[in-house]
Amino acid sequence: MEVKTSLLDNMIGVGDMVLLEPLSEDSFLENLKKRFEHNEIYTYIGSVVISMNPYRSLPIYTPEKVEEYRNRNFYELSPHIYALADEAYRSLRDQDKDQCILITGERGAGKTEASKLVMSYVAAVCGKGQEVNKVKEQLLQSNPVLEAFGNAKTVRNDNSSRFGKYMDIEFDFKGDPLGGVISNYLLEKSRVVKQPRGERNFHIFYQLLSGASDETLKTLKLDRDFSKYNYLSLDSASVSGVDDAANFRTVRNAMQIVGFMEDEVQSVLQLVAAALKLGNIEFKPESRSNGLDESRVKDKNDLKEMCELLGIEQSVLERAFSYRTVEAKSEKVSTTLNVAQAYYARDALAKNLYSRLFSWLVTRINESIKAQAKTRHKVMGVLDIYGFEIFEDNSFEQFIINYCNEKLQQIFIELTLREEQEEYVREGIEWTNIEYFNNAVICDLIENNQNGIMAMLDEECLRPGTVTDETFLDKLNTICAEHQHFESRLSKNSKFLTDHSLPHNCFRIQHYAGKVLYRAEGFVDKNNDLLYRDLSQAMYKANHSLIKQLFPEGSPAKINLKRPPTAGYQFKASVGTLMRNLQTKNPNYIRCIKPNDKKSSHIFTESLVCHQVRYLGLMENVRVRRAGYAFRQAYEPCLERYKMLCKKTWPHWKGPARQGVEVLMSDLKVPAEEYSYGRSKIFIRNPRTLFFLEERRRQCLQDLATLIQKIYRGWKCRRQFLLMKKSQVVVAAWYRRYAQQKKYKKIKHATTVMQSYARGWQARKLLRQLKHQKRCEEAATTIAAYYHGTQARRELRRLKEEARRKHAVAVIWAYWQGLKVRREYRKFFRANAGKKIYNFTVQRIIQKYFLNLKKNLPSMSPVDKSWPSRPYSFLDGVHAELRRTFHLWRCKKYRSQFTEEKKAVYEEKLEASKLFKDKKALYPSSVSQSFKGDYLEINKNPKYQKLHGAVDEKVLLADAVSKINRANGKGSPRIFLLTKKSVVLADQKTGQVKASVPLLDLASVSVSTQSDGFFALKLKEGSSSAVKGDFLLSSERLIEVITKLYRLSAASADRVPLGVDISDEFLVQFKNDKVCVKFIQGSPKNGGGGASCKRKNNRLLEVSVPSTA
Ligand SMILES: Nc1ncnc2c1ncn2[C@@H]1O[C@H](COP(=O)(O)OP(=O)(O)O)[C@@H](O)[C@H]1O
Ligand SMILES: [Mg+2]
Repeated sequence: MEVKTSLLDNMIGVGDMVLLEPLSEDSFLENLKKRFEHNEIYTYIGSVVISMNPYRSLPIYTPEKVEEYRNRNFYELSPHIYALADEAYRSLRDQDKDQCILITGERGAGKTEASKLVMSYVAAVCGKGQEVNKVKEQLLQSNPVLEAFGNAKTVRNDNSSRFGKYMDIEFDFKGDPLGGVISNYLLEKSRVVKQPRGERNFHIFYQLLSGASDETLKTLKLDRDFSKYNYLSLDSASVSGVDDAANFRTVRNAMQIVGFMEDEVQSVLQLVAAALKLGNIEFKPESRSNGLDESRVKDKNDLKEMCELLGIEQSVLERAFSYRTVEAKSEKVSTTLNVAQAYYARDALAKNLYSRLFSWLVTRINESIKAQAKTRHKVMGVLDIYGFEIFEDNSFEQFIINYCNEKLQQIFIELTLREEQEEYVREGIEWTNIEYFNNAVICDLIENNQNGIMAMLDEECLRPGTVTDETFLDKLNTICAEHQHFESRLSKNSKFLTDHSLPHNCFRIQHYAGKVLYRAEGFVDKNNDLLYRDLSQAMYKANHSLIKQLFPEGSPAKINLKRPPTAGYQFKASVGTLMRNLQTKNPNYIRCIKPNDKKSSHIFTESLVCHQVRYLGLMENVRVRRAGYAFRQAYEPCLERYKMLCKKTWPHWKGPARQGVEVLMSDLKVPAEEYSYGRSKIFIRNPRTLFFLEERRRQCLQDLATLIQKIYRGWKCRRQFLLMKKSQVVVAAWYRRYAQQKKYKKIKHATTVMQSYARGWQARKLLRQLKHQKRCEEAATTIAAYYHGTQARRELRRLKEEARRKHAVAVIWAYWQGLKVRREYRKFFRANAGKKIYNFTVQRIIQKYFLNLKKNLPSMSPVDKSWPSRPYSFLDGVHAELRRTFHLWRCKKYRSQFTEEKKAVYEEKLEASKLFKDKKALYPSSVSQSFKGDYLEINKNPKYQKLHGAVDEKVLLADAVSKINRANGKGSPRIFLLTKKSVVLADQKTGQVKASVPLLDLASVSVSTQSDGFFALKLKEGSSSAVKGDFLLSSERLIEVITKLYRLSAASADRVPLGVDISDEFLVQFKNDKVCVKFIQGSPKNGGGGASCKRKNNRLLEVSVPSTA
């Protein structure tokens, strides 16, 4: 809901002076002061805004503020310039009324700031979009350009506008800006050549010198040093808080945005530079023959540079500073100028140059910002014109300015009164006339075409003969003497004869804002605003397009003997146009007031403010406004604001608002003469009535606040309760849902269980039935099978019986047949049948025997002993013979497949069997062993490398043996080698040969009958080897060793074969002694031990051989 507020809320003093009670100048000032001290710089008089210059930035121009005031009623919020701007903009947009905003006040009162605030507000609230924004930007950026060229630092204001400005902003039907037109009024051009103390020239000069690049300055032939230029006052060349260099960049940028071409900017700067240069041209007198002085340019350098800059021929300009051509009728007379005249001419040129440049700038800006569309525009005009000026020394400029203000005041009076009057008529309220001062009479004094001051001045200027300021004053004294607002010492009006405050060379005008004393000196000159034709012609000849354009009257084609219109005339005309323009528009007033002369934010100088209040006619303004009714308000907002004061209108009034207000007023018992009903507004005569209403409203609001609080609390509690109730329902619903779900699940489960039982029972029943049915079917099959079996067996028996009978018949028949045959053939058979049958039978048996034998022959293995058993005893001999023959045959077959080596092996084995079979118990165990011979692999084993070297012949046998020690019967390990020629014994570890015995020296070998491996090598007596004695050795491969030894001895033809003695007791020759070695049957073999040898005595070694049983 939108919060409705009012101007009347939180007021400091009163926001609207109309409500001041009692109304007096003191209370007016008091109110202004109070508000100023609280930073409330705006106060209304009805719809007029009074603005006090705060001289400091206040936080009341933010975008938020813009939003706050946007689309709000004028009295809705506290007074603000935005409220006025909004009101003006909305009535322009919505009611199609052209608007003008008139900002008046003294210099430094804040007019220019106010105009900028209005423009920025309108820019902020009007339409948006690329095109619109560009227009807005151009309109806003025209300000810095004009300010640079038209503003200057003055004593009262660091950025004082030295020209009047009126700007029309044009809008389309939607309220979007289309463009604008700027008019300028009377630039204070005298400032170009001379500035009062403490002030400076126009900003642009300083900005150019401090902000332009070195390069630019060089092309403009300028020096950065201000002191080099006569036209620049030095005492306040730089202003604190103002950065001229930065401002120069801002201005350049603004010019670019507004649409100036680069060459245009350059031309403008050249003209500014030229004005500066002009000031530096100085003159010296030169005596002439006719006794008159003639001026000459002193130092031509500046002149030269300026001419170069503007493309002017130096001699032409130089001449124009020394001579003046006067054309009268058809004659041309050239007179010389003295030094003073030359300076006058120079300054006139500078002033003209600058002011024309300024006007050109305005025209150029207008070209850029003018609205493009040809359709009808709505217009909002903003007038920022210099305020009323009263100095100690007032001249033509002040006269003109004050005249302008006089006109504005008139339009203000006319329009406000007219508007007030119109409102009364519109609202149907009776109009009572009000006394107020009308300044039309002063305007008449100044502008009257017959005898007005300006007309007099023009007359004087155009009059032939000598014309001076004194003749002008004389004229005024005669013609205006009777006017009640004109005062002069020498006038016919004798009452001023003794007035010493009025000098002789001055006249005084009683302006609406006070009396102003004008010095007549300079009026004629300034009004003439003369620029010698020679100078304008010189300018026209310049080779510079902008200069040419600015001095069109210098064109030879335009030689016109008629004088140009005077300055006063021109100004009057333009003010007239402006006034006519303003009269067509709806006026909005901003009255600016300056609180002090010191630019201070804290001081409120009452006398100063009082003066302004007076001459601005603010008190009159209030009185006019209050003359009829002090306060008025449309019915709707009025009812809205006060409806709570009456039960009938509270809280809602159903009927029309006016009736509501009527009911309200009568209910409140407000006296009937205190108010009046208009068509759309109620008019309240006395502010007291309004304050009474306000006070009642304030009390009522407190009660209402309590009521609202009560209702709100009740509502809040109820809402809380309803929420809880709602929540409870939700919770309960959820819980019920949950419980029902649980119950349902349980039932579902139980049903499933029961169902499964029932189904199971049914299924089993069915199964039983099916099983029974199946058994019945099986039983029937079995019975049928048995039955068929019985039948089949019975049938089989019957068939067998039948077959037996048939067979018996056949046998009986055969026997009977045989009997018959035998009986018949017995007589032919008897003699040799027995012999033949016998032979046949025998042959048959033998045949059968051989066939059988052939079938059952044993395997081809020679060791297979099996043989088919004998079938008949009469074949015994044959059977045995056949067995032997078969055996021999298969042995032969076996032998025939032997290789030579295998054959040798078998021969050796055969030899061994001849030697030991049935003679030594060790033999049977050797049969299955193959005789490998070299068990030690003597020639491969690297350990026996040495040994192999020692034995030069092929080793037939190599094996480990033990050599029995005679002393204790223990064995020591030896390697036993057998070659074709000798026996070698070597150490087992080192491989060193211990003994080598040639086979020829061996006499015999002795072994026991038992299963031991002991053997004795007996040497031939007398042989070389016999010295050491015989060897008693033991070997596991005894059979092989002896067989190999024996076969070697048998193979050589020159020797007797080696004797092999097998007995359990033999003698061995050890060195000199013979020792008997005796073998005894020991206890059965236990553990791993073989035969053990023990020495019994010197002559007996006993070897105990474990029994094999
Ligand atoms: N509303 C304002 N807020 C802050 N400062 C202001 C305001 N109005 C005026 N001023 C100050 O006063 C100075 C003079 O204002 P300006 O508008 O140039 O005066 P005028 O145009 O009436 O001569 C400004 O430079 C500024 O410093
Ligand atoms: Mg200004």
